[in-house]
Amino acid sequence: MKTFSCETRIVSGPGAVAALKEFGAKRVFLVTDPFFAKNGTAQHVAEAAGGETVEIFDGVKPDPSVSLAAEGTAKLKAFAPDLLVALGGGSAMDCAKAMAYFSQGTFPLAAIPTTSGSGSEVTDFAILTHDGVKHPLVDRRLRPSMAILDSDLLESLPKSLIADAGFDVLSHALESYVAVNAGAFSDLLAREAFASAYAALPASFAGQKAVRLKIHLASTMAGLSFTHAGLGLCHAISHSLGGLFHVPHGRLNAILLPSVISCNAHAAQRKYAELARAAGLGGSADQVAVRNLKNGLMRLRKELELPQTLAEAGISPRELWSKMPGIVAAALDDPCCKTNPMPAEDFLIRRILEEAAGRG
Ligand SMILES: NC(=O)c1ccc[n+]([C@@H]2O[C@H](COP(=O)([O-])OP(=O)(O)OC[C@H]3O[C@@H](n4cnc5c(N)ncnc54)[C@H](O)[C@@H]3O)[C@@H](O)[C@H]2O)c1
Ligand SMILES: [Fe+2]
Repeated sequence: MKTFSCETRIVSGPGAVAALKEFGAKRVFLVTDPFFAKNGTAQHVAEAAGGETVEIFDGVKPDPSVSLAAEGTAKLKAFAPDLLVALGGGSAMDCAKAMAYFSQGTFPLAAIPTTSGSGSEVTDFAILTHDGVKHPLVDRRLRPSMAILDSDLLESLPKSLIADAGFDVLSHALESYVAVNAGAFSDLLAREAFASAYAALPASFAGQKAVRLKIHLASTMAGLSFTHAGLGLCHAISHSLGGLFHVPHGRLNAILLPSVISCNAHAAQRKYAELARAAGLGGSADQVAVRNLKNGLMRLRKELELPQTLAEAGISPRELWSKMPGIVAAALDDPCCKTNPMPAEDFLIRRILEEAAGRG
């Protein structure tokens, strides 16, 4: 039996933050990172909510830790808001979601993504790091009440963030499309998200702001897809490496994804081929289409000036091999493994890492 439900109300377009007023909140707690506190966006968004009393928690760092979420939870509980707003990338949204969850509050959460990547504004996931290990919290209560996709917030996106987060969108779409819990509705969203992000990323990277809303919508579609269908080995390994080496999440996905396709091709050839055709990468025989999909992603990775190997991303092969048992164990422990189309096994993870390692 498959179910699909989107409890999050999605508001999109330029100036969409104005939708915050609909909550009629008097006490607004806003979670963000220092970048948006310094440039005044956090204050502007808090004003849009129209609250009488506002508190801004601007301590979020990339890959938020359990202790940061605990610190924020204490502040959130003491403030007792009637609206919680998350403003930022996956890190700010995940931190706010975890804080809401730990505080067991009954207030609504409005999530405002400023990167087109994590999809966290519509997912049941929040990823926290503790002792070098990324722990995905997975619970329906983590799903925000509202997602605000405001294209005005994408003006300042630096090129490297467009590339890193863009590959997070592609990997969410691709992994959820072949995941064991995929269904008709998640497939529809994943296919559209993959094709649309694949086509628009080069233009966005080259500076065309008009295409950015398209990628933003694709990111949310991919989030909706994976929160229902699940993810796979690319995310399990990316979480494991990200907790240890702090390389941006999407960048790790970009390096790992082609090798994951090779490993899973045996079980997911037909669906990978469908995705290749949806993105215009074609190939009449499925085997050829899968090869084109892998090559197309490697071409795009180069065009977006992303590293091709883990070594190029700053993870030396020597360090990788010395920490291999822990990396493999953390990946096998990650909930994303459970929905990979091939049963996740030690040797598969090692094979993917060997292919992605590069030379130091
Ligand atoms: N919960 C989920 O469903 C889910 C899914 C995928 C990834 N994640 C998590 O999300 C995190 C990655 O999120 P991310 O890729 O969005 O990056 P991020 O939130 O870690 O932000 C990275 C940097 O980009 C800056 N930034 C954000 N928006 C900007 C903008 N518009 N202009 C300029 N700078 C901006 C931030 O200030 C920060 O310094 C990882 O921790 C990952 O594990 C969560
Ligand atoms: Fe991701």
